[in-house]
Amino acid sequence: MGTDRVKRVCIVGASGKLGRYMVQHALERGYEVVGVCRERSVPKLAEFEGRMTVVAGPTNDPDVIRRAVAGCDGVLTVLVPWGVQQYASGTAQAVLDHARPDARLVFSCGWHITRDGGDTYSRAFKAALRIASLLGRLLRYVEIDDQVEACRRVFASDTRWTVVRGSTLEEGESQGLPAWSRHVGDPVLASDRTRRVDFALFMVEALTDDALVQEAPAIVGRLTPSALAHADASRDRA
Ligand SMILES: NC(=O)c1ccc[n+]([C@@H]2O[C@H](COP(=O)([O-])OP(=O)(O)OC[C@H]3O[C@@H](n4cnc5c(N)ncnc54)[C@H](OP(=O)(O)O)[C@@H]3O)[C@@H](O)[C@H]2O)c1
Repeated sequence: MGTDRVKRVCIVGASGKLGRYMVQHALERGYEVVGVCRERSVPKLAEFEGRMTVVAGPTNDPDVIRRAVAGCDGVLTVLVPWGVQQYASGTAQAVLDHARPDARLVFSCGWHITRDGGDTYSRAFKAALRIASLLGRLLRYVEIDDQVEACRRVFASDTRWTVVRGSTLEEGESQGLPAWSRHVGDPVLASDRTRRVDFALFMVEALTDDALVQEAPAIVGRLTPSALAHADASRDRA
């Protein structure tokens, strides 16, 4: 899809940190932006008042999503594992069911999501994930398994999806479009750091990058040591 074909985009989870960066990038590209967020979070979008449309409601409510994605060429969805009410899988399903069949659908998640089982994780990463899953379940706060289920449904769909898998995030000025690879464990990703603003940039750029259709790129900051070493090695080979 050429850039000129993206005119109107929906951002599901627009009020969060990643969501607000995506709103900013989308507005800078001149897209018409519709954002979805919980009613209580609408004030978090005050800085964009008059420049975007807000649909307030739970993102896993099919009716809310149906109204928000109407006429959109692209849908950017923040998948979060919060709560214990299938919030992530409900959100993903609503987007898959109600977005236009030819729309570009871009979803966010973390490195822990694997598409083909080809990812390799450090012992520390696996231990941290196990602890987060267990604590989240015990405290009824986080439901990581449901984010896994959400992505399973996306991977199984025949829509024009991309699942962007973020590394550990940090704040800071943009370093440009992150580097990516198909599998966690690939040397380019070793630094495991991405600026949140650049995660959002990758999501918005994916809307117009057909090479990413039905891909699950794992990303890393462009100026991290591992990404720079990889860029040097590629240059030397060339
Ligand atoms: N944090 C990391 O280090 C990290 C690392 C890798 C990947 N990621 C991925 O990056 C994406 C954004 O993550 P983030 O950590 O940066 O968060 P974020 O952008 O601040 O987004 C949090 C989102 O969760 C919603 N939310 C919070 N509590 C909720 C609840 N109880 N019920 C329903 N929704 C709730 C927020 O909505 P409101 O505005 O309404 O509160 C907001 O849309 C996610 O897909 C995550 O998996 C994060």
